[in-house]
Amino acid sequence: MPIADKVRDALGSSSLIRKMFEEGNLLRKKYGAGNVFDFSLGNPDLEPPPAFHRVFLKLAKEDRKGSHGYMPNAGFPEVREALAKKASREQGVTLDGGQIIMAVGAAGGLNVVFKTILNPGDEVIVSRPYFMEYRAYTANHGGKLVEVDALPDFDLDVDAIGRSLSPKTAAVLINSPHNPTGRIYSKERLAALAALMEEHGKKTGRCPYLISDEPYRELVYDGLEVPPVLALYRESMVVSSYSKSLSLPGERIGYIAVNPGIDDRENVLAGLTYATRVLGFVNAPALMQRIVAELTFAKVDIDIYARRRQAFTKILDEAGIRYAKPEGAFYLFCEAPTPKHQEASAASDAAFVEHLKKHLVLGVPGAGFGKPGWLRFAYCVDEKLINASAAAFKKAMETW
Ligand SMILES: Cc1ncc(COP(=O)(O)O)c(C=O)c1O
Repeated sequence: MPIADKVRDALGSSSLIRKMFEEGNLLRKKYGAGNVFDFSLGNPDLEPPPAFHRVFLKLAKEDRKGSHGYMPNAGFPEVREALAKKASREQGVTLDGGQIIMAVGAAGGLNVVFKTILNPGDEVIVSRPYFMEYRAYTANHGGKLVEVDALPDFDLDVDAIGRSLSPKTAAVLINSPHNPTGRIYSKERLAALAALMEEHGKKTGRCPYLISDEPYRELVYDGLEVPPVLALYRESMVVSSYSKSLSLPGERIGYIAVNPGIDDRENVLAGLTYATRVLGFVNAPALMQRIVAELTFAKVDIDIYARRRQAFTKILDEAGIRYAKPEGAFYLFCEAPTPKHQEASAASDAAFVEHLKKHLVLGVPGAGFGKPGWLRFAYCVDEKLINASAAAFKKAMETW
C-alpha cells in the first residue's frame, strides 16, 4: 500500500537538509569530527544555562501531585500567567494568562495558528527568503504560501507585500530576527506594514492576521532590540519558543501570545486551544512548562554567538565571500561567489555548496530558502571549529 501522494512528493522536495545531515555524518566518520566544518544545521550547540538545570532538578524532586497529568489544553494557568508578564514586557501591550497558549515549540505553535485561521485556499504572505518549513506548515492546513521578495538588504518590501494582499489573504507571516538572513525588522517598517494591512482590511472587510515568528528574539547583537508587533497591529499574534534562547529545541516548548485587542478574541483563543488538542499535541510538555515559567527572562550567553559571528565574518571577508551581516539569530547568509572565468548563474549556490564540500565545508544552498544564488552557514558550532575552517574557505575560493 503506497503512502499518500502529497507526502511522497514532499519527501522528494525536502530531501536537501536530510541529505546534508547524512553527508555530514558520513564525512565525520571518514575524516574525523574535528576536520569537517559542518555549518548546515541550526541546532544550537550551547548547553542550556545553569539556571535551567537548577530549576529542572528542583521541580523533579518536588513530587507535586498532578504534575504529570493532563491539564487544560492551553497549558497550566500559572505558567500562562508567568509568560503573559514576559510577553507584556516585550510587546508593549498588557496580556494576561488567557491570551497565552502554550505550544510544542514555535513549529507546533505555527501549525496551531494555521489550523485555527486558514480556510482551504487561503493565502499566507511571506517575505522571501524564508524558513523552509513555512511552506509545509501552511499546506498542512489547506493554505497557500505567497512569496514576496525582500528588499536587497533583506528588509521587508512593504509595498510589494501590499501589492500581494488579496481578499484571500488570511495572514502575513514575518520572522524577526530572521532565519536565514539575521535581519531584524525596524519599528518603522513594521508600522508601515501594519498601516497597509489595516487599510486593506477596511477596503475588503477582511483584516489579515499578522503572525510574528520570534524564536530568535533574545539572540540579538550590538544592543539591538526586536520591536514589538502586538503594540503595532491589533489583529496579531506572536509565536515563540525556548528552542534557541535556552537551547532547548529537543524539549519542544514554546507559546503563542494573542493580541488582547484582537477581533473575535474568544473564538480565536478557543480555536487555538481546540487546534492544540486535535492536532494531537493535547498540551505542551508539562515539566518544561513549569521550568520555563521560572526562567522567563533567562537566556544562553549571547556573547558566545557574538564572538562566533565576528570570527566567521572575518573568515568570509578574508576569503572574499560577501554576506548580510546578521543583527540577530546565528546564521550567515552569503552570496554564492561567481566562479572564475564564468558568468554568475542563478544556480551557482548548489554548485558552490558542492565545491565547498570537497573542502569539507558544509552549508545549505539558498534555493532551500527560496533564494537561489545564496547559501546559509549556521554558526551554532564551536568557535574553534569556525576558526579552523579558515584555511578550507581560502583553498575553496582559490580553486573556484
Ligand atoms: C524561523 C524559525 N521558526 C520556527 C522554528 C521552529 O522552532 P521550534 O524549535 O521552536 O519549533 C525555527 C527553527 O529553526 C526557525 O528557524
